[in-house]
Amino acid sequence: MITGGILKDITFQNTKENDNPIEMIIQCVDISNSKVLSEQGGIMLVKPAHSLKKYVPLFDRSKNKVALDFGSGNLRNSMYLHRKGYEVYAVDLPQKNKIQCMPRLKCILPEEIKGLNSKIDVTICTFVLNIISESERNGFLGTLAEKMSPGGFFLVETKGFSLSILDSMIIPKGFVRVHCERGRYTIIVLYQYIGMQH
Ligand SMILES: C[S@@+](CC[C@H](N)C(=O)[O-])C[C@H]1O[C@@H](n2cnc3c(N)ncnc32)[C@H](O)[C@@H]1O
Repeated sequence: MITGGILKDITFQNTKENDNPIEMIIQCVDISNSKVLSEQGGIMLVKPAHSLKKYVPLFDRSKNKVALDFGSGNLRNSMYLHRKGYEVYAVDLPQKNKIQCMPRLKCILPEEIKGLNSKIDVTICTFVLNIISESERNGFLGTLAEKMSPGGFFLVETKGFSLSILDSMIIPKGFVRVHCERGRYTIIVLYQYIGMQH
């Protein structure tokens, strides 16, 4: 677990024989004393969500590459997108938001999404919608709609919601559903932002 400091470097290593999956090795270094802060000698292994890996070739067609990872947790998805060339905003609560910055990856608080200057091309939200309150969900989805670029993608993976409930929360904000699949315990839905139809 990263306990604080500045995220200084990310290296990637293929851990399987095919070159598909990537495990990311994250080194967290406290710039004040150059001490490695994370456990296991400063190395943390994380893997992105399967759903993100599946859809990223589609996302890569976006003209701009700005991504928002809502409820970024240990940054596994943020790091993956960063590695793929995205400028990433990793959004989480203050206690999770210990890494301050690195080029093209910023950790921000939910209330800071509103103030972002860039339009967002890809938003991912894996295993978060089911743990936040209804008012947090509505607040996030409303703000997201203001910040998405037209044609931008919104990937949701969650437990505890049916497709129709997700659609009823997300489509009225200006999204259309473009794909959906069910995992063993989760539902994975890809939306695209088309803006509000007047
Ligand atoms: C189950 S973890 C999922 C982390 C990550 N998305 C993943 O798939 O590995 C849920 C994350 O949502 C964050 N979270 C909880 N409430 C939140 C809120 N109101 N706004 C943003 N993030 C929140 C938690 O701190 C936690 O890091």
